[in-house]
Amino acid sequence: MVKVFKTKKEVRSCLGSLQPRERKIGLVPTMGALHKGHLELVARALAENDLVVVSIFVNPTQFNNTDDLHKYPKTLEQDLELLRGLSKDILVFAPEVSEMYDSGVASRSYNFDGLEKVMEGTFRPGHFNGVGTIVEELLTLIQPDRAYFGEKDFQQLQIIRKLVAKKNIPVEIIGCPIVRESNGLALSSRNARLPERVRKEAAFIYKTLKAAKAKFGTKSAGYVVDWVRKQFLAHPDLELEYVEITEVNTLTPVLRKKKDQKYRAFIAAYANGVRLIDNIALN
Ligand code: PAF
Repeated sequence: MVKVFKTKKEVRSCLGSLQPRERKIGLVPTMGALHKGHLELVARALAENDLVVVSIFVNPTQFNNTDDLHKYPKTLEQDLELLRGLSKDILVFAPEVSEMYDSGVASRSYNFDGLEKVMEGTFRPGHFNGVGTIVEELLTLIQPDRAYFGEKDFQQLQIIRKLVAKKNIPVEIIGCPIVRESNGLALSSRNARLPERVRKEAAFIYKTLKAAKAKFGTKSAGYVVDWVRKQFLAHPDLELEYVEITEVNTLTPVLRKKKDQKYRAFIAAYANGVRLIDNIALN
């Protein structure tokens, strides 16, 4: 059964009544418009915990662009139907903005040791303060044993790991692999805004990431980054915002490859005015 809670008080009193407390709680934070990628996070949380909470909340403070916030799909009834389809007990926490931000819609300011200053941080000022604020709030409220996030937002995942370490929040952060459409396009709630033709074209992002991975085996990071830029310049429908190859933990750009380090390539690009991001492990 799927039970929906709208207030912090309701959700706290339900979780507080759970006895014994050694029952494990898994949290899947989402902004709704659920797709197969979210459902895989929920399925994993269900398999690994006694109780799963899915939060559905379009967090206004993480949108640096009001147009993007207003266009963000809000499909609560459809989301609940998808969760019901899993035929398991799930608690859904779907508060209003005034409930989550009862003392004003503003974010706290965080220092994530530079993780917030690159890529998404450069192009979406304030975004990670908004993410940090809401995720800290949810973790404090729900007090889960494990929380699940997709690797599509890999920078967000590393920032949440940093948040939890810095604030000593006792939760295990679990990163889950990117789920893709059959043509390779990473699943995203934003894909719904792409016309069919552009949605097909957008598969170019992952195709380019895979080719970049193959090149990274023998070429320098600088060469691969330039090569990716050229591919996008030649593409009529996709506009590259950034391409970066970074070390996975610090997210610093690779200057010279080292044998014992792990690297990842990241792309943000616009397709038909819709901003898409994707990434790939390189080694
Ligand atoms: O990844 C998302 O959907 C959001 O950034 C999150 C983690 C739910 C916080 O609003």
